[in-house]
Amino acid sequence: MEIVVCKDKNEASRKAADMIAALVKKNPKCVLGLATGSTPVAMYDELAKDVKAKKISFKNVKSWNLDEYYGLPPTHDQSYRYFMNENLFKKIDIKLSNTHVLNGLAKDPDKECKAYEAQIKKAGGIDLQVLGIGSDGHIAFNEPGTSLSSRTSIVYLTPSTIKDNARLFFKGKENEVPTRALSMGVGTICEAKKIVLLAFGKNKADAVKGMVEGGMSQFCTASALQMHKDAWVFCDEEAASKLKLKDYYAWRSSTVLAGACECACCCKKAAAAKGAKAKTKK
Ligand code: PGA
Repeated sequence: MEIVVCKDKNEASRKAADMIAALVKKNPKCVLGLATGSTPVAMYDELAKDVKAKKISFKNVKSWNLDEYYGLPPTHDQSYRYFMNENLFKKIDIKLSNTHVLNGLAKDPDKECKAYEAQIKKAGGIDLQVLGIGSDGHIAFNEPGTSLSSRTSIVYLTPSTIKDNARLFFKGKENEVPTRALSMGVGTICEAKKIVLLAFGKNKADAVKGMVEGGMSQFCTASALQMHKDAWVFCDEEAASKLKLKDYYAWRSSTVLAGACECACCCKKAAAAKGAKAKTKK
């Protein structure tokens, strides 16, 4: 797991957007896994700027979202479908028919979840999954106590998540936050080829500590990412503040990002590839 410690949310959002933009440029037909919540909004704004500046296009990109509240229609202003339309899809050139969010009104949630997994599989799997992290260490709505190999299913929100989401989105009204959701599983998420997780603010410091330096445990479902081969965490100083090796992670990730690492594995390979390219040019 690479931890990119940034001076603030804006810098982290731009760097994460750069990683997504690079993928979209390289593979204009890529499959993205998208997240809702307050955290990715600034990054989505950066991507919208890139589209406006014609640096990238989402015309052929397909997306699948992590989760949806159970019982909310897509037109409800607190549904995640509504959130995605407002905060990203309306601002970029993606085809709405290429975007997918679980149906919160599904009569048969198990069938809906199975069909969603099948759609992702048919599309070739998720190339890059965007994630936030809950203050209790959850990814998507995979709350403490969820199996680290769970699949997309109907889940139950913890009181702490209900409280966090009421504060941020339901004008403090905890009784209006649905207690259930349809959510991609931890196992489903971990199958994405690349992961970009964002975490901002001191409210996330314990969760980030648990994810990066805690033991892998269903008590902090984000810790499952320790087993992922290509997971990137973009965080601000506050979210990283409890990490024992914060300075080391910051140095290592900046070195890897800059392609300046001198190790025998990644950098020698990169240098060799560069040399080969130079030779073919001659
Ligand atoms: P937040 O939620 O971005 O609103 O803090 C993140 C999450 O619960 O995954």
